[in-house]
Amino acid sequence: MSADVHTERGALADAGPAAAEPVLEVRNLSVDYGFGDDPTHVLREVSLTLRRGEVLGLAGESGCGKSTLAYAATRLLPPPGLITGGEVWLTNREGTRADLLALSDAELRAARWRDIAIVFQGAMSSLNPVFRIEKQIVDGIVAHQPRMRREEARERAAELLRLVGISADRLRAYPHQLSGGMRQRVMIAMALALEPQVLIMDEPTTALDVVMQRQILEEVMELRERLGFSVVFITHDVSLLVEVADRIAVMYAGEIVETAAARDVYAKPRHPYSAGLLGSFPPLHGPRRELTGIPGAPPDLSAREPGCPFAPRCPHAMDVCRTELPVLGRTAQGEDNRLVACHLHTTASSTEPLPPSLSR
Ligand SMILES: Nc1ncnc2c1ncn2[C@@H]1O[C@H](COP(=O)(O)OP(=O)(O)OP(=O)(O)O)[C@@H](O)[C@H]1O
Ligand code: SF4
Ligand SMILES: [Mg+2]
Repeated sequence: MSADVHTERGALADAGPAAAEPVLEVRNLSVDYGFGDDPTHVLREVSLTLRRGEVLGLAGESGCGKSTLAYAATRLLPPPGLITGGEVWLTNREGTRADLLALSDAELRAARWRDIAIVFQGAMSSLNPVFRIEKQIVDGIVAHQPRMRREEARERAAELLRLVGISADRLRAYPHQLSGGMRQRVMIAMALALEPQVLIMDEPTTALDVVMQRQILEEVMELRERLGFSVVFITHDVSLLVEVADRIAVMYAGEIVETAAARDVYAKPRHPYSAGLLGSFPPLHGPRRELTGIPGAPPDLSAREPGCPFAPRCPHAMDVCRTELPVLGRTAQGEDNRLVACHLHTTASSTEPLPPSLSR
């Protein structure tokens, strides 16, 4: 279908990330894995908004659907993944909005990299071992900008490497001649080649040691300031997000269970799962605290029980939790900019006193 059917003009930004215009809006995105009569519903009506200039952190345990969300939102989901519903609205530099899920293949190819780019989980192992770095970057640039001369693309490749802190003479290197951190930086440089509006980074530093992790993250955040892109940063390590993200979305069993400003999630998590996640990672700063972890294991997404998916592991589960699925909404306290999917915080259950750990 053509872009004119699916595009509309977006409102212009006013001020600061909190009030800035949305650059990426995922609405009710649902994904199944498997065909036939009994597919597994992996994403269930997930909605998320990324604002211009913002770093949105997406946190959750392994298997909760973080990568699925990133792939589905960019229409890169491989079979047997199938998008069964939803919209993904992207506002480009000119202020035109388009639903990525409704674009033709040609329109989508144009939008990818130019407007939205993704650094895949484990990306540093996806460089082709038999080609020099230069060829891989230049080929990527020329594929998306066929009018650019290779000489010009080479200059751009050198500039991109310098941008991520690698000397341009390493362009002649093969991937095995670079360290893991350098290869990951090359992948980030490639994603930034066309100066996208939105950069999705799926566990970009998990395979690296903490010093390298920190260095790369600091560089990305500095580039974000300089180049003005927005970031969706995916990790299972919520304590890392507290440091780098403006806002955090916590995911559990294919659903968003809490979104709020990073400092609010850290200081007063409302969802018991967010509280559990925070208690599972050592804080990078501040006083030491005891790690508590979360008992049990995430549910089998192919055999979901009714009610709240976190109920079997939740220390605060009530009867209603085992029968009714909590819906993501404002808390009974009416907190601004926070949404929670938990019966403890809905108006109907708010007569119950909140557990102290969730009511600070
Ligand atoms: N190709 C596939 N076929 C069937 N199920 C899949 C496939 N890929 C992922 N899944 C299932 O979808 C769910 C979400 O997987 P996904 O990779 O999105 O999780 P994740 O949050 O990114 O995990 P991790 O932190 O380990 O990267 C998991 O339960 C997984 O088993
Ligand atoms: S809805 Fe119930 S089981 Fe689910 S997180 Fe809230 S209190 Fe726990
Ligand atoms: Mg993943």
